[in-house]
Amino acid sequence: MSSQFAISTRDLEKDYGEVKALRGLSLDIGAGQFFGLLGPNGAGKTTFINVLIGLVKKTGGDARVFGFDVEDEYRDVRSRVGVAPQEFNVDRFFPVREVLMHNAGYHGVTKEEAAERADEALRTVGIYEKRDTKFTYLSGGMKRRFVLARALVSEPDLLILDEPTAGVDVELRRALWRIITDLNDDGTTILLTTHYIEEAEQLCDEVAIMDSGRKIAVASPAELTQRGTDTLRIQLSETPREVPDIVGTELEAGSIEAVTTEGREVVVTAKRANAVAPELVRRLDRAGYRATSIDIEPASLEEVFVDLTGGEDESEDDAPESESKRLESPEATT
Ligand SMILES: Nc1ncnc2c1ncn2[C@@H]1O[C@H](COP(=O)(O)OP(=O)(O)OP(=O)(O)O)[C@@H](O)[C@H]1O
Ligand SMILES: [Mg+2]
Repeated sequence: MSSQFAISTRDLEKDYGEVKALRGLSLDIGAGQFFGLLGPNGAGKTTFINVLIGLVKKTGGDARVFGFDVEDEYRDVRSRVGVAPQEFNVDRFFPVREVLMHNAGYHGVTKEEAAERADEALRTVGIYEKRDTKFTYLSGGMKRRFVLARALVSEPDLLILDEPTAGVDVELRRALWRIITDLNDDGTTILLTTHYIEEAEQLCDEVAIMDSGRKIAVASPAELTQRGTDTLRIQLSETPREVPDIVGTELEAGSIEAVTTEGREVVVTAKRANAVAPELVRRLDRAGYRATSIDIEPASLEEVFVDLTGGEDESEDDAPESESKRLESPEATT
């Protein structure tokens, strides 16, 4: 049985004793998608993955991978899925090439083919020269690469990456992004969990935000970001005596949430700041103020994420910084 969905779950439940890790999770992930699973620590992301790959037995609901039931048709599922887990679970004391060959062997390929696949996977992730090193003696970043290689030796149709870039440096993060983007371009479905919101924004065509075992939202990163609020800073040539009265009814209806002043700046929070900026500048002009520059800080997926999950993501401290977009107003020439 095949399916247009790589992953399809209905009302999925998982209780660990008193802890309800999944509470009725229904999710469809299309074959070929690059799908992100976001959520604070303890949201249930790893549990969801473990149910899919048969490491954890669900308490209720239905879960299918490429149409195969994750419990009744476990083997059909497992042969199509490669997983790079959050926690390393590797034979530490064998050379990594041997570990890979062994893993490829699980999937019923000949020894030669297993060796070929091991070498190819090591080359793909860029640690071929470390092929005779034991896992224990790889650097932290090489371990991450290796775990990805191990997920690849079975040539999976679905690649599941549980925080593949946690704690890796910027360069390796970019390298891993390129590798998995290439795999996705070649048709591999990707399910990625991450605490780096920028990573989801860059890579995923769709993301689900989870909290406390529930699905809070599913949309493209751009759609989710549009739910947030932009901040528009209009610099005036002089400090205004009062908050300029520039919000007409049609603008209010459009998207403006607040107008305040900070020194020479008029600060407007709005849903789609780009759309209202020109009209605001015209109104300021009519009210006798001259704008010298406009700075738009777009809403970020991170803010939307924090709004939706109602809290801080603990791992965001070392996340890459997002950039704000700077626009010069066409009216701002002196
Ligand atoms: N084997 C287990 N036994 C008991 N409770 C568990 C077990 N595994 C997970 N849990 C609990 O289930 C909940 C969901 O955990 P899970 O690991 O799925 O979260 P997560 O979204 O992957 O979090 P993180 O971002 O920290 O990796 C947590 O409350 C966790 O303590
Ligand atoms: Mg986890």
